[in-house]
Amino acid sequence: MKGVILAGGLGSRLYPLTKVTNKHLLPVYDRPMVYYPIETLVKAGVTDILLVTGGNNAGDFLRLLGNGKQFGLKHINYTYQEGEGGIAQALSLAEHFADGDKIVVILGDNIIEADISPQVRRFRTQETGARLLLKKVSDPERFGVATVRGNRITSIIEKPRRPKSDLAVVGIYMYDADVFNHIRTLKPSRRGELEITDVNNWYLKRGDLEYDVLPGYWTDAGTFESLYRANSLVARKKGRSGK
Ligand code: DAU
Repeated sequence: MKGVILAGGLGSRLYPLTKVTNKHLLPVYDRPMVYYPIETLVKAGVTDILLVTGGNNAGDFLRLLGNGKQFGLKHINYTYQEGEGGIAQALSLAEHFADGDKIVVILGDNIIEADISPQVRRFRTQETGARLLLKKVSDPERFGVATVRGNRITSIIEKPRRPKSDLAVVGIYMYDADVFNHIRTLKPSRRGELEITDVNNWYLKRGDLEYDVLPGYWTDAGTFESLYRANSLVARKKGRSGK
């Protein structure tokens, strides 16, 4: 299984913090934001990693991460997204890297507490399709929102005005190699992006979409509020564990 970290986009919701740097290089407590998704993948045993980035400061990732020695990696792959065409568009750049393998995709601004090894293991044994992680939140309208019946997802709506549940779709997605064929058929949404929710709904319609509920805390860090929350969640955890 290969890992893809999506760290493109312009981070416009964090302006002026992102005027001269990339959002994923901003600090979250004692480390740059991008460290967290890398550690999430490495902890789950996913060590063949592609980082997709973009914007004016893409070179800074190479200076910061190099070949990933500080994470115990021998090598990191990099690619560049022109513009801000959406999460699915950024993911399409990983097709050559994936080369027919299954992938775990993680958004560069998603910070989680749990070790996702069990969920990744379950996806390894899943023959085809996709697997999502869901998390109960108090502000579902900010996210992709899923409804479920038993162990099946029944709908996913991107940022609904009136959410039908409080289950947000976490920015960690597991896909088989079909994902790239489907991305090619996508049309931009009203916000002008290729939406990852459209990809997930395609797997849902095919009846090939599984999910787990993510334990521990989860936050994105793409707004002032959520960046602040990310900092305090990590600070509190470090304070408790003393490392
Ligand atoms: O955080 C989880 C949520 O992420 C999901 O619940 C939503 O369904 C999903 O659409 C996404 O929502 P956001 O609108 O908050 O995503 P945002 O535009 O902030 O992008 C999140 C990350 O994806 C960002 O840190 C980098 C990457 N990205 C995004 C875009 C638009 C790219 O690499 N390229 C892009 O063009």
